[in-house]
Amino acid sequence: MKKEFIDPWTSSMPEDYKQIVKKFGLRGFDVGDFPRPNVLMRRGFVFAGRDLKKISDCIKQKKPFYALTGIMPTADKVHFGTKSIIDMMVYFQKQGAETYVLVADLEAAATRGVDLKEARKTAIEIHIPCYIALGLDVKKTKFYFQSENDDVRNLAFELSNKATLNEYRAIYGNAEPSRIMASILQVADILHPQIKKKMPGIVPVGIDQDPHIRLSRDIAGRAKKFGFVLPSSVNVKFLPSLNGSLKMSKSEGNSLYLLDSDEEIKKKVSKALTGGQKTAKEQEEKGGNPEKDMLFEFFRQHLIIDDKELKKREEDYRKGKILDSENKEFATKLLIRFMRDFRKKHKKAKKHVSKLFGN
Ligand code: TRP
Repeated sequence: MKKEFIDPWTSSMPEDYKQIVKKFGLRGFDVGDFPRPNVLMRRGFVFAGRDLKKISDCIKQKKPFYALTGIMPTADKVHFGTKSIIDMMVYFQKQGAETYVLVADLEAAATRGVDLKEARKTAIEIHIPCYIALGLDVKKTKFYFQSENDDVRNLAFELSNKATLNEYRAIYGNAEPSRIMASILQVADILHPQIKKKMPGIVPVGIDQDPHIRLSRDIAGRAKKFGFVLPSSVNVKFLPSLNGSLKMSKSEGNSLYLLDSDEEIKKKVSKALTGGQKTAKEQEEKGGNPEKDMLFEFFRQHLIIDDKELKKREEDYRKGKILDSENKEFATKLLIRFMRDFRKKHKKAKKHVSKLFGN
């Protein structure tokens, strides 16, 4: 039997989330376990995880835990889908998590040949302000660069003797030195908040990062000296590009980015894959399919928060009361409104961030 792997460094995407859950031993996500769930949790976009009970217990019992995520400072654009991960970070932060956001500049250098100075600049000017503009509280979030965090680097070296090449082959399918360096460092990122205090931690991820979570849990279990609590993860579905492709590649065709201009939004929405019929007349008669419509995907994941409003729009679309042209106009309006607000917040966050890092 051919063994299948998820390769975190390429961009091919799973089509079937149920299969993934089974194949990689994830657990389904039970929204009932979590107080005050956000839209992504309520609507099934958060679909799985590892050791989630530990985290929901911490929330309910007001015990300390942490949430952590990483920024890959490779492109100078942030994919709209990143919002899902940050929505989860914001959720956990609001439920009392200590929050960490790191810039994976060493990973970017090792696996993509990115210059460290360049990485620093894009992270400070674009990525970190984006994360703050999406709702993370600057005062409560600990940001760091992998290249500047001695605790993390030292931990990575100490933990490296807890992994084997065979394990790499089993988890990743191969073992390039750059990938070994980057993944051990990520394990150290994920575990380092526990150096000071043992506590559960949660890492919201797209399924592409699950191999790193598996490695982190394996290593954490073996590094007895540290007594780590095994880290938890929560898996969020990807946001498809507007043309319906599930690839998460940053260079993918019709993807929306967080600082896109009004003009770009208009152009991209106009070309979106819809669930509509070939002609307006046909659509009035037969109705459209909101499940196959990429604009509805944006509504469900990010743009329409009110459940009743969403349901009504889906029904109207299904009945042919809403045509694609109207729906595109509406999506454009919502997106432009979102982006205008986002750009304002980004600008403000940028000032904070340059003070924080002295640039
Ligand atoms: N590997 C992650 C990516 O490609 C970046 C990253 C580094 C990360 N360390 C992390 C993500 C720790 C989550 C937790 O995007």
